[in-house]
Amino acid sequence: MKETAPAVCLQNVSAGYSKITALENINLNIEAGSFTGIIGPNGGGKTTLLKVMLGLLEPWTGQVRIFGQDPQENRRLVGYVPQATNINRQFPISVREVVSMGRLAGKSLFFHRYSTIDNDMINHCLTRLDVLDLAERQIGQLSSGQWQRVLIARALAVEPVLLLLDEPTSGLDANASSMVYELLQELNREITIIMVTHDTLAISAYVRDIACINHHLHYHGEPDISSELIMQLYGCPVDLIAHGVPHRVLEQHGGQP
Ligand SMILES: Nc1ncnc2c1ncn2[C@@H]1O[C@H](COP(=O)(O)OP(=O)(O)O)[C@@H](O)[C@H]1O
Ligand SMILES: [Mg+2]
Repeated sequence: MKETAPAVCLQNVSAGYSKITALENINLNIEAGSFTGIIGPNGGGKTTLLKVMLGLLEPWTGQVRIFGQDPQENRRLVGYVPQATNINRQFPISVREVVSMGRLAGKSLFFHRYSTIDNDMINHCLTRLDVLDLAERQIGQLSSGQWQRVLIARALAVEPVLLLLDEPTSGLDANASSMVYELLQELNREITIIMVTHDTLAISAYVRDIACINHHLHYHGEPDISSELIMQLYGCPVDLIAHGVPHRVLEQHGGQP
């Protein structure tokens, strides 16, 4: 890890799946220490962008650097909270086992012996996300909000320097969402956070910069964007309301209520 390098640097990145181009010619620098929100319409390539940053998806063209190095080399510095709805929960495994995976750093789940330090960290993360009392429960028996918090606990068990979250509050009620944002804000004093979100509260109150993705990178900067940009990104102003992009976006540049 190079201390002075940006947390994430994408240069001319295009990526996709067989015939589908999800991202085209993305250039994006995210400084270490930032709290970045990624917004954009469904199917716009947000999850794909996180996968490219994680080294889970090799880009077709261009270069990806995480703290100045190949994503594979820096993989164990990165915590990942995948989109909860994309995961099959029929697998017979407990909450504690899922969170413990955060300590594996690529080693086998079944033959690994966890150290006292590992176990302390696992309990700490379970407690921090308020799921310690669910630790022995099978993951298939959790509510969507509980499952979401388990995924965050697993990512924190990595003790990441960079945390990537994919719609981490989509299954949570307002109280639980606020708890997660407060936690992220606290973590952000020490680590870099990149979060895909549709949540207006997060964008207006917590996130310090936003990247707008719809196939291309349309904007990266302060979280107050013009109505023209929203038109370009989401297609039309009706969509804008449907997607819940913050009110103040229009106020600041359009002068409209
Ligand atoms: N595993 C996959 N195989 C084929 N196409 C995919 C796969 N994952 C995503 N896509 C396609 O790539 C595009 C971008 O998807 P995605 O990154 O999931 O968008 P978002 O997270 O913004 O909703 C979409 O057209 C989607 O259908
Ligand atoms: Mg997605």
